[in-house]
Amino acid sequence: MKLFIDTANIDEIREISDWGVLAGATTNPSLIAKEGRDLKEVINEIVSIVDGPISAEVVAEKAEDMVKDGEVLAGMHENIVIKIPMTEEGLKAIKILSKKGIKTNCTLIFSANQALLAARAGATFVSPFVGRMDDIGNAGMTLISEVAQVFEIHGIDTEIIAASIRHPMHVTEAALQGAHISTIPYKVFKQMLKHPLTDIGIEKFNKDWEKLNK
Ligand code: E4P
Repeated sequence: MKLFIDTANIDEIREISDWGVLAGATTNPSLIAKEGRDLKEVINEIVSIVDGPISAEVVAEKAEDMVKDGEVLAGMHENIVIKIPMTEEGLKAIKILSKKGIKTNCTLIFSANQALLAARAGATFVSPFVGRMDDIGNAGMTLISEVAQVFEIHGIDTEIIAASIRHPMHVTEAALQGAHISTIPYKVFKQMLKHPLTDIGIEKFNKDWEKLNK
């Protein structure tokens, strides 16, 4: 499973990118708004740091407007993927953009049927939201497993991005359920790195080494 970062904060992206683990990045209108910055400016900076698919979301509601905005964003860099919400108009836009050779990421996926529709419309990626499903008392990880099974059984090559990741267990489970990618917030990357036994181990090695060199 590949790892993307889910943020529009450039310092966070730079820090995790330096670890050498990033294969891409995702943003959404809320993440861009949190930074209080212009979408294109942020996307331009991200493409200069991360060498992989970078999702930039359109906010238009009509297919033709989504396509227009998507074409402008896609024209900025070959790694840019157009994030489109799962609506009727969104599906139409995905079909048009995919025919033009522009990559899309269908977002706000909450059922295997929505994922199937997006894939059949030509989406390059689908983003099932695990955490938001958990929030309403549904098993978010079951969604990943169902989408992965449907795609596997029917030979669909659309890639599954496990999104709305809230903690490290989500990442492990998404990998086990067959997600191709997890898009992970900065905080969760930091949590993934840590284990108390690693810290205790380092301390012990250092102490033993000091004893030897006294
Ligand atoms: C996916 O691409 C979205 O940006 C994101 O994962 C949404 O997560 P949230 O539910 O934490 O807002």
